Amino acid sequence: MSGHGIPIPMTSHRAGPLSGTAHVPGDKSISHRALILGALSVGETVITGLLEGDDVLDTAKAMRAFGAEATRDADGTWRVNGVGVGGFAEPDQVIDCGNSGTGVRLIMGAMATSPIAATFTGDASLNKRPMARVTDPLALFGARAVGRAGGRLPMTVVGAADPVPVRYEVPVPSAQVKSAVLLAGLNAPGETVVIEREATRDHTERMLAGFGAQIVTEETEEGRVITLTGQPELRPQSIVVPRDPSSAAFPVCAAIITPGSDVLVPNIGLNPTRAGLFTTLREMGADLAYENEREEGGEPVADLRARFSPDLSGVEVPPERAASMIDEYPVLSVVAAFATGRTVMRGVKELRVKESDRIAAMAAGLRAGGIAVEDGPDWWIVEGRGHGNVPGGQTCASHLDHRIAMSFMVMGMAAQSPVSVDDASPIATSFPVFEPLMAALGADIRRG
Ligand code: S3P
Repeated sequence: MSGHGIPIPMTSHRAGPLSGTAHVPGDKSISHRALILGALSVGETVITGLLEGDDVLDTAKAMRAFGAEATRDADGTWRVNGVGVGGFAEPDQVIDCGNSGTGVRLIMGAMATSPIAATFTGDASLNKRPMARVTDPLALFGARAVGRAGGRLPMTVVGAADPVPVRYEVPVPSAQVKSAVLLAGLNAPGETVVIEREATRDHTERMLAGFGAQIVTEETEEGRVITLTGQPELRPQSIVVPRDPSSAAFPVCAAIITPGSDVLVPNIGLNPTRAGLFTTLREMGADLAYENEREEGGEPVADLRARFSPDLSGVEVPPERAASMIDEYPVLSVVAAFATGRTVMRGVKELRVKESDRIAAMAAGLRAGGIAVEDGPDWWIVEGRGHGNVPGGQTCASHLDHRIAMSFMVMGMAAQSPVSVDDASPIATSFPVFEPLMAALGADIRRG
């Protein structure tokens, strides 16, 4: 778990060129889902390439608390022996999901239609985040939740003893909410229908189909209509987790802004619901190629090659692309600082309720490093200064947010003066090998 330890101040010095191959860790979203669906099937699910970051390890611990077995072989293969849909036992301890919004929201969904109670908590960041977006639809199944003011953790969820299926239109673009409802629908009789107006990452739907659930997605005028037939017997699977595009974003963006760089980032999941950053970087004029495009385990995959791109231009990011790059706006704002002209990002209200208020956190740090930023409730604009003209020299608050910490480390690689963060410890939630991986490429990141 992050946020309980000693803060790790970190400074990134001007570096480069960055070169070599960056094997980033497994996809965080897919890793959580593999453990949870493994726990809900009967028999042994085998997972390779699982992200062993704190967020996912907290989900593994939670699955054990609900009665599944989750073990790791010496070679890093994970084995989950599940209890079946509706088979969760009542945990005898509080479930601590650490820093992970995905972990807590998906697990709440997965237990909400079983006749058990569970109490959830997290670190200082997670305990500030809104949970009503999940507990409201779970109440429609018959579950009850009692938490702190504003629907905050710690919170106890009492699962429905006689769940009813639900038809629910997700009011915010959120794969976590969609997934919580689908996972709850697994143990409700009949058809649970989830409607989303904007497409969000669809790993839950793909993986449920892989585990043998009957799930159908239709593109209609009201949006994507997803229909799940409840109470299936899920069949254990062999899952190869692709590498995380949200982690690949950091070496890719670092290479693009650091003179002379040429970095290969192999085996990156390029599910269209996740790849918006790469499309945007190309629109800005970045030298970013997809090599060896292929399909693995039902997900599109490619090797990314990113090279230094001296002539980046600011762009207007289409709001309808937001869901496909929601976690990448922080590092995009760093690239935007090195571009010529303004980068306009609209329709991004959700950034204010992530591990931190990501617009506020990035705007404060960028301004302190000499970059003009304007922002409003659901938009922000970064005034690029062009390659070679980004002052840096600031210390930024990471607000217990891994992506804020890594984004400012990327900024330091090409700014005129070093960039520091007060606490880089949250990086372990999603990218535990960030420091050695970036050092091997030629980055100069130091503790302190
Ligand atoms: C995730 C969904 C996104 C994303 C998060 C992972 C998921 O959150 O920001 O890092 O795995 O479903 P929202 O669903 O709240 O947009």
